[in-house]
Amino acid sequence: MTRLSGKTALITGGTSGIGLATAELFVKEGAEVIITGQNQERLNQAVSAIGHRVTGLLVNQTDTNDAKSIANQVKARFEALDILFLNAGVTMPAATNDEREERFDEQMTINLKAPFFIMQNLAPLMRSGSSVIANTSCLDQMGIPGMAVYAATKAGLRSLVRTWAAEFVGHKIRVNAIAPGPINTPIYGKLGFTAEALQEMATDIQSKVPMGRFGNPEEIAKAVLFLASDESSYMLGEEIVVDGGWAAL
Ligand SMILES: NC(=O)c1ccc[n+]([C@@H]2O[C@H](COP(=O)([O-])OP(=O)(O)OC[C@H]3O[C@@H](n4cnc5c(N)ncnc54)[C@H](OP(=O)(O)O)[C@@H]3O)[C@@H](O)[C@H]2O)c1
Repeated sequence: MTRLSGKTALITGGTSGIGLATAELFVKEGAEVIITGQNQERLNQAVSAIGHRVTGLLVNQTDTNDAKSIANQVKARFEALDILFLNAGVTMPAATNDEREERFDEQMTINLKAPFFIMQNLAPLMRSGSSVIANTSCLDQMGIPGMAVYAATKAGLRSLVRTWAAEFVGHKIRVNAIAPGPINTPIYGKLGFTAEALQEMATDIQSKVPMGRFGNPEEIAKAVLFLASDESSYMLGEEIVVDGGWAAL
């Protein structure tokens, strides 16, 4: 299948997890893919794992100047985009009583402020018929202790998707969201938890998800492909939840 033949896609945070799986699927479907990441070595590894029709761009989402730099590089090397997957993100669980301002600011900057300015800079480069997908989370509609700031960043991103959908529909750019549930990616290894605490958290999550398991990045990539392709041509401002039934049941 080549559902994305002739299309150019930019995926933020394409070095691992959901972003990498989506980049691999998009390339298989015929797209030219640009991935971003904040670390040159991980970027190089991802580019060689994907193998062909892929370019890596070094971007740190804590610096909003990088949004302008992405736009300049895309313009110079690719002219325009057809697909933008705003995927890069971090999570730093903490009870509200224990939260620190710098962690609050870091999550807000990477998960909400950076996607806003990347969209602001890249929207003028998006062709008529383009699709933008933001990676939110099923937590944007749930109340899970310890996830206050992360869930708020994702609820903010969900809100941006609605406004952008309304603002850009006249430019023939569709904007939607994908809301994953717990997905087996490197994000959990970055929490700073001990192996025992991680296992305890995984067991607790599995007991709450009706399907009794974590999802795989490829299960999210397939839904992103749907939103990126013309198969979702009548979807606008929506969010597809892929979470094993956690939020709905
Ligand atoms: N896994 C889940 O259970 C789950 C559930 C719901 C939503 N999500 C969302 O899915 C998205 C992808 O997560 P994942 O699980 O695939 O995690 P992951 O494997 O940790 O991937 C995160 C990606 O974001 C990039 N990134 C992080 N901080 C960055 C920064 N400051 N500047 C630029 N890039 C940065 C990373 O690049 P580097 O390699 O350079 O650090 C990496 O490519 C996130 O937005 C996350 O919130 C995940």
